[in-house]
Amino acid sequence: MRYEVVLPAAGSGKRMGAGQNKLFLTLVDKPILVHTLLVFESDENCSGIWLAVKDEERAFVQSLLANYNITKVKGLPTGGAERQHSVHSCIKEMQAVEVVLVHDAARPFITLPTITELTNVAYRKGAAIAGVHAKDTMKVVEHGLIKETVDRESLWMIQTPQAFRFDLLAQAEDVAEKVGFLGTDEAMLVERLGHDIHIVESSYENVKMTTQEDLIFGEAILNRRKQII
Ligand code: CTP
Ligand code: MG
Repeated sequence: MRYEVVLPAAGSGKRMGAGQNKLFLTLVDKPILVHTLLVFESDENCSGIWLAVKDEERAFVQSLLANYNITKVKGLPTGGAERQHSVHSCIKEMQAVEVVLVHDAARPFITLPTITELTNVAYRKGAAIAGVHAKDTMKVVEHGLIKETVDRESLWMIQTPQAFRFDLLAQAEDVAEKVGFLGTDEAMLVERLGHDIHIVESSYENVKMTTQEDLIFGEAILNRRKQII
């Protein structure tokens, strides 16, 4: 299934505490952003990449695209104050395609089989998102006290990619903008329309580079994958 991907890359990486956009930090041999871009560059089903960037970082991102021979980027619109705004700025510039994927630029370890499954399910059913079973016991805590233990079987930790029929996501984002609704992921916007969203089991390796420890996990994942190849 052919698709285009939106990669929000206009954050500032505050929790990483690196004093710069965390996506530009080098992980083993390349910037985090480049690792992510190369996954989609190498996927023959991916027909276009849209990158939301900060105005002041656009020239640097373009230099990375040239240096690493990334050819599929169709646009680099200006991101917004929140991730949702950054994604929306890409959707607004895109021509309608059958399936669109939204993927955090900060998740460089996504693999092609998961992408393929997500796009196939989204094409057939409208919406599919990646996730993994919660590993730990989960409890609801209020004011430092346990309120309840939640049944772990039904709990999933949600990741990206999140894949949609283009029209469905575009409509969900327009509605959210109109009513001023801010969600933490795209699925929330589509849920509000009452549309079913399917979960595709992904991998615990699909971590988001968020805090300093994640860089250690990330290096370990990359080094192990190099040994396997
Ligand atoms: N992002 C974006 N526009 C924003 C905020 C985030 O495009 N206004 C992007 C980030 O660049 C990242 C992805 O959304 O690729 C996931 O966000 P997150 O991990 O929260 O990254 P940051 O917002 O950069 O980090 P922090 O929240 O720690 O500041
Ligand atoms: Mg953030």
